[in-house]
Amino acid sequence: MNAVLGVGGGIAAYKAAELARVLMRQGFTVNTVLTRSACEFITPLTFAALTGRKTITDLFANRSAEEVLASSVEHIQVARENSVLVVAPATADLLAKFAHGLADDFLSTLYLAFTGPVVLAPAMNTNMWFHPATVANVAALRARGHRIAGPDAGDLACGTVGEGRLAEIETIAAVVAAAALNRNDLSGEVVLISAGPTQEPLDPVRYITNRSSGKMGYALAEAAAARGARVILVSGPVHIPPPPGVEVVPVRTALEMRDAIMGRLEESTIIIKSAAVADYHVANVPAQKIKKTAARMSLDLDPTPDILAEAGARKGDRLLIGFAAETRDMVSEAKRKLQMKKADMVVGNFVNVAGTGFESDWNEVTLVMSTGETAPLARASKREIAHSIFDHALRLRLALHASQ
Ligand SMILES: Cc1cc2nc3c(=O)[nH]c(=O)nc-3n(C[C@H](O)[C@H](O)[C@H](O)COP(=O)(O)O)c2cc1C
Repeated sequence: MNAVLGVGGGIAAYKAAELARVLMRQGFTVNTVLTRSACEFITPLTFAALTGRKTITDLFANRSAEEVLASSVEHIQVARENSVLVVAPATADLLAKFAHGLADDFLSTLYLAFTGPVVLAPAMNTNMWFHPATVANVAALRARGHRIAGPDAGDLACGTVGEGRLAEIETIAAVVAAAALNRNDLSGEVVLISAGPTQEPLDPVRYITNRSSGKMGYALAEAAAARGARVILVSGPVHIPPPPGVEVVPVRTALEMRDAIMGRLEESTIIIKSAAVADYHVANVPAQKIKKTAARMSLDLDPTPDILAEAGARKGDRLLIGFAAETRDMVSEAKRKLQMKKADMVVGNFVNVAGTGFESDWNEVTLVMSTGETAPLARASKREIAHSIFDHALRLRLALHASQ
């Protein structure tokens, strides 16, 4: 599959070289177009060397009338031969040009001639990003169906901190892959996802938690957003940035997570409970720090609410997907959980296998479905596993509707 990578003249232009590599690793043939300003930040040679293809920088370069007549017009040809156009970094200037249909260089002319999916990854100073002109331009481009990846918040090259940093390269690449496959199959869905661990306080300074990193739930949120869903991500405390375009509801305890999930359940069409919620908590947390003494002490713990079971009781015709993190008997535990909680699918995974599960970027899972089917998914990145879960979930929903 061919992708055009358009690079605008911003500080983040150097990161586009890494994007070219990641896209190639995903199987894309990458054709790069640099604006004149982009050439001030990174050379065409870098992309030619990385992609093995010529880098286009000029609408009129070396083009005689004979050449134009002999072959087709280059920007039209490039528009025809590529399945996806990604622009990273998309400068404020390019967003304005695209929004208003200006075509005074190769990239903006190509944009107008291109009829396939467009992914824009803006990067700029925070004030530029929040300027009403840019806000209006982005809204117009979004309304045109283009996917806007990022920007992220963080340290900016201009020395300030705020929104405007180019989204993570892996995130942009995931959006490009979904766009190229024209995966808009979650458009119109509202996907409610819980992710991460919970923290259950013992006193004002201590808490019980677990090793969940939130990576699986965040990968699911990213995949759902890339496939066109509105995503509500109820997240316990984690150390990873949320995917762009996702509504995050931060929570701390199992009780807060329960309230957040139940509060948003009605508006969802798919519920995925991937959070590692504490099973027990201290019901009456002391107001003061517990003092150290020489005596042995024990904790008096009460069970937390069973969120999956409660969601199962109230789900109606929503699709409910739970997770079973096990250290043994994974498939039978997943089947038991599926029936007990009235879920439609349970994703079983071993959390005691080195290189997968908690904290890892990789996973190996078995999907257990209410149709009786099971589907083992071989070890893959959490991003790939997330997409496979949605592929199976959509097929499962069709099967469930057909059987009704
Ligand atoms: C040092 C420097 C850094 C810049 N960084 C950005 C940036 O990150 N984002 C942006 O939108 N514009 C940035 N600009 C402004 C653009 O380069 C300028 O608007 C240019 O006209 C964009 O051209 P293009 O959109 O054709 O690539 C920067 C300019 C300079 C001199």
